[in-house]
Order: sequence, then C-alpha cells, then structure tokens
Amino acid sequence: GIELGKLLASTGYITYDPGFVNTGSCSSAITYIDGDAGILRYRGYPIEQLAERSSFLEVSYLLIYGNLPTQAQLDDFTQKINRHTLLHEDLKRFFDGFPRDAHPMPVLSSAVSALSTFYQDSLNPFDEPNVELSTVRLLAKVPTLAAYAYKKSIGQPFLYPDNSLGLVENFLRMTFGLPAEPYEVDPEVAKALDLLFILHADHEQNCSTSTVRLVGSSEANLFASISAGIMALFGPLHGGANSAVLEMLNGIKAEGGDVANFVNRVKNKEKGVRLMGFGHRVYKNYDPRAKIIKRTADQILGKLAPNDELLDIAKRLEETALSDDYFIERKLYPNVDFYTGLIYRALGFPTQFFTVLFALGRLPGWIAHWREMINDPQTKIGRPRQIYIGEKEREYTAISER
Ligand code: ACO
Repeated sequence: GIELGKLLASTGYITYDPGFVNTGSCSSAITYIDGDAGILRYRGYPIEQLAERSSFLEVSYLLIYGNLPTQAQLDDFTQKINRHTLLHEDLKRFFDGFPRDAHPMPVLSSAVSALSTFYQDSLNPFDEPNVELSTVRLLAKVPTLAAYAYKKSIGQPFLYPDNSLGLVENFLRMTFGLPAEPYEVDPEVAKALDLLFILHADHEQNCSTSTVRLVGSSEANLFASISAGIMALFGPLHGGANSAVLEMLNGIKAEGGDVANFVNRVKNKEKGVRLMGFGHRVYKNYDPRAKIIKRTADQILGKLAPNDELLDIAKRLEETALSDDYFIERKLYPNVDFYTGLIYRALGFPTQFFTVLFALGRLPGWIAHWREMINDPQTKIGRPRQIYIGEKEREYTAISER
C-alpha cells in the first residue's frame, strides 16, 4: 500500500477521497473493528469481555502499553496517576478568565493546551521519559480539569483531589462534592461511569484520534495534540452527538412524544434534522458498544430514574427506525451515543457536560495513538493534497478599476 501510494504520488496522480472514507492513514496495532459484523477489540480483547471484567485504568494501561498489566504493574500505574492529580495553583486561575456559561469542552481543551506551558519538559516528543511523564500527567489531571470546568459553570468552589480514592470516584467527588460536606460515592454510579469510560476508550481512526495523530505528526507535543483532539470531539457529528441526542429526545417530548412524526422529518431530510445517535462511518451493523450501553441504561435508569419518559421515547425511536426502509437500506443503527446521554443525565450530569465525559473516556486511546504514531518509522507529517477548482491565472487590477 505504501509503495503504491509513493508510486502514484510520483506520477502526479492523487487520490480524491473526501472525508477519508477509504484512505488508510497509518498502520495500527491498537484497536480492531469489523463494521459489518459489529466487532470491536482493544489489543485483541473483545469489548464485551473488557466491559464485563476489566476496569478503566486497566484498559488505559492495555491501550497505551499493549498488554494487560500484572497486579504489580497496575498498582504502580495507579500510584503514579494518584500522585499527579493536583493542578498547579496558577492553572486553577485560568478558569476565572472564562465566562461563567462557557461550554466545558473549549474550557477543557484550553486547560490541556496550557499544560504544555506548565510542563515545558514535555515539548520534545522524542524524549521518552518525559512522554511517559506527560502520559501520567494527562491521565491524572484531565479528570481534575474536567471537574473544575463543571464547578466553574455552576459557581461552586473547586475541591482538591482525594488521592485515597480511585480515578472515577475521585472525579465524581470533585464534580459533585462540596468542601464542607462529606461526599459518599455511590459504587453503582462509579461502576456505570467506569464502564462507559471503557466503552469510549478507543475507536481507531475516528475524527478526534486522526486529529491527534495529524497534529502530532508535525512533532507537536502530546498536550498540544490532545487539546486539538478534544476540539475535534466537540462537534455534534462526533462526540457532541451525546448531548445532541438528549436535546433531540427533549424536543420530541416537548412536541407530545410523536416519534413517527420525527422519523418522517428525518427521512424527508429536513435541514438540520438527523436521527442523532444513529449511523456510523464504519459500523453497518449494531454498534457493539451501544448493545452494552442499552442494557446499562435499563439497569441504571431502573434504579435512579424509573419511568423516565425519555428512555421510553428513545426505545420507541430505535424500534421505529430499525423497521423503516430508510434506515434499513442505509444500514443505520444506534451508535455509542444513542443511550449514553440518558445514563449521564440519570447520574446527575448536565447535558453540556456529556461530551466532556466522552473526552475523559477517549483520553487513553488518544495517548496510545499519539505514542504509536511518534514511534512509527513510517510516520511522515500529515499533509493531504487537494483538487484545485479555483480561478485560472488572472491579472491583478487596480482597486479603482474593480
Ligand atoms: N439520520 C438520518 N440519516 C442519516 C444519518 C442519521 N443519523 N446518518 C446517515 N444518514 C444518511 C445520510 O443522509 C446519507 O443518506 P443518502 O445516501 O440519502 O445521502 C446516508 O445515510 C449515508 O450517510 P453519510 O452522512 O454519508 O455517512 P457518514 O459515514 O459520512 O456519517 C455519521 C457518519 C457522521 C456518524 C452520520 O451517520 C451522522 O451524522 N450520525 C448522526 C450523528 C451521530 O450520531 N454521530 C456520532 C457518531 S459515533 C461517534 O462519533 C462517537
């Protein structure tokens, strides 16, 4: 493939592939997807097994280092991460500069970008001990940054991390706890969030991961590349879809819960009306993550928000779409985002924050890809070509003559 690509480039031919639908941009040993069969594996392990038996930290280790950790390796990894959860006090002041109603995604991206100013030892992407340190810093600090972005948005004081807690428990406490009050983490809530993080942890060359790789291919550091990835995830066609699904469900509810009418609007391709949480570039079958998430939605909502009207609308929407020719012909199935918003909402997170939760889950995948990219001898700076369709050469005219 690489040799053929080089040959074509040398002859002046270029591949026109908008959206990179059929372009392999790298080789990767991290995640395997079979979109027709609905299969997803991290480093060879089926997602169903990881969801059932693993933890988010263990999966992070697996993605980044290639194998499941031994107990000693996991303890060491956990301890290192716990040691780095604090933010520099000056970085905390960044949050004061943002408007109170700022969306937490650009706040998170800016804060991650700012990490390269606090940790200038991170600037050389080939300095392996520092890449290792940046990896740990990111895994440790991004949950703190995310919790502070939330606290800022509701005007509450920041809580220092409590490093006796696990990563997810610590994040929940910093997000929902108050300084003077004890906060008991509900183990079921922590387990559900941990599971959602596992399911989001990697998905090969999606828009944000490709962004991380592309930015990193210029030898920009890990923090800079991840900050760009967070912004790619922000878009409603990518990570932003989890918030968009909830807005869509709320909209259907406000109009009396008429699912068939909404599906008709989608099929008529009304401008800006898509069935959010449906469809995927690679999956032409039920997204295996969505299957697991649907079960979790039933369990969590059964406990925390029984008789949730939005869950009922979502299920009716899925049923209607899956038996409709428009969706059948185009092989459109629920994706990872279809049911996640309902769970996040039941756990107490506001809609605007859902995509931040996606970013927390996807972080180890981004890191794993950046590290794979930087160590791959085949990596070249990403620089696609184009088909020029503008004006032919023309003469400059003086402004008075235009
Ligand atoms: N609702 C209605 N129609 C859809 C949908 C949808 N959700 N998704 C695709 N289609 C239709 C398109 O209109 C197109 O129809 P056409 O052939 O008549 O023109 C056909 O299906 C193919 O769709 P494309 O947009 O070409 O597919 P693409 O691979 O470019 O897009 C995407 C994939 C962006 C995920 C799309 O399905 C979509 O917009 N889904 C809704 C947003 C969403 O849920 N995003 C999350 C994706 S998963 C993730 O990032 C975590």
